[in-house]
Amino acid sequence: MRNTLPSMGIRVPDTPQDAGERNKVASVDPSKVFGVSIHSVPPNISLPFDVSVIVADKLTRIRSAGDMLTSERLKDLNRHHVKMLYVPLDQRGTYKEFLWTQMVDPKHSIEQRTASVGQATYLQVEELYTAKDLNPVVERTVKLLKHIGQLAAGTQSFTKLAGSLSHYESPAYEHSVNVAVYAMTLFRHASETTAENVWQVGIAGLLHDLGEQAGDVKLLQFPERMTKEQFEAYKQHPRRCLEMLKGVENLPSEIANTILQHHENCDGSGFPDQLKGNQISLGARVLSICDTYENLTNPIGSQQSGLTPLEAVQLMGSVRPERFDQKLLKVLIDKL
Ligand SMILES: [Fe+2]
Ligand SMILES: [Fe+2]
Repeated sequence: MRNTLPSMGIRVPDTPQDAGERNKVASVDPSKVFGVSIHSVPPNISLPFDVSVIVADKLTRIRSAGDMLTSERLKDLNRHHVKMLYVPLDQRGTYKEFLWTQMVDPKHSIEQRTASVGQATYLQVEELYTAKDLNPVVERTVKLLKHIGQLAAGTQSFTKLAGSLSHYESPAYEHSVNVAVYAMTLFRHASETTAENVWQVGIAGLLHDLGEQAGDVKLLQFPERMTKEQFEAYKQHPRRCLEMLKGVENLPSEIANTILQHHENCDGSGFPDQLKGNQISLGARVLSICDTYENLTNPIGSQQSGLTPLEAVQLMGSVRPERFDQKLLKVLIDKL
């Protein structure tokens, strides 16, 4: 999850579009910015950070802190297929604070607030995967997840919510966020729990594959292509994740269990402890279904496109369905 500029093929017109811009444009060093989704920047309000775009293959600042982007200008950028705006790295903290105020501001539409949540989640996951000290990052992630839990609680279709949260270019981010949102929604429907509790399975969803990043080999999503030795190492990633989270204070044991057991199967064929049925926590049974569903519908690094939601649940229901909690699988099918 590095800050890289996307394809330089994306262009906006060489000529700036409005009077304010004419005086502001300036070249910017690409190594000193990070990309943010254009959808996370609301129109017609004063922005507390600089904004750059790629103009004719050059990163160019079009707004300084204190300026605004009008809805016409944003529409114009959209028309030119601009998906990313760039914010200086040294204004990352300001940008994050801005997102947090936007996502709870009732003046904004649900779409705008969801876009802010999506961007905030992206930055949060990036920090989870890169932080030396996970403690403060996890604490902040919990807050964010509680907020997403409330959003999910008010959303009928979890695929729609996940879709609006995941328009970024990092597959690891996308996988974590999709699994987290699916898991929170499935957990809520399956256990009739309240929005206050669904964040726990959500945070387990965001963190569940953190341990994959810690090994010597970047094994990631392709267990079927691994050598025997690689697969043995891969099987350690749930435990490795718990080791990474050791320093996090007050991490509820439900979250730790959910992460540890997310590759256990109801028929005892999973890992690391070959647990069966109710020996596996409800959160982990939920996560296992959502993880598989996400991998089938959104395969990372594969040249092939994923299965449709219907194809994915049909496959899960027909090939060794005893791996999954049948009741939960039915809820997943009903809620699609
Ligand atoms: Fe995993
Ligand atoms: Fe996963």
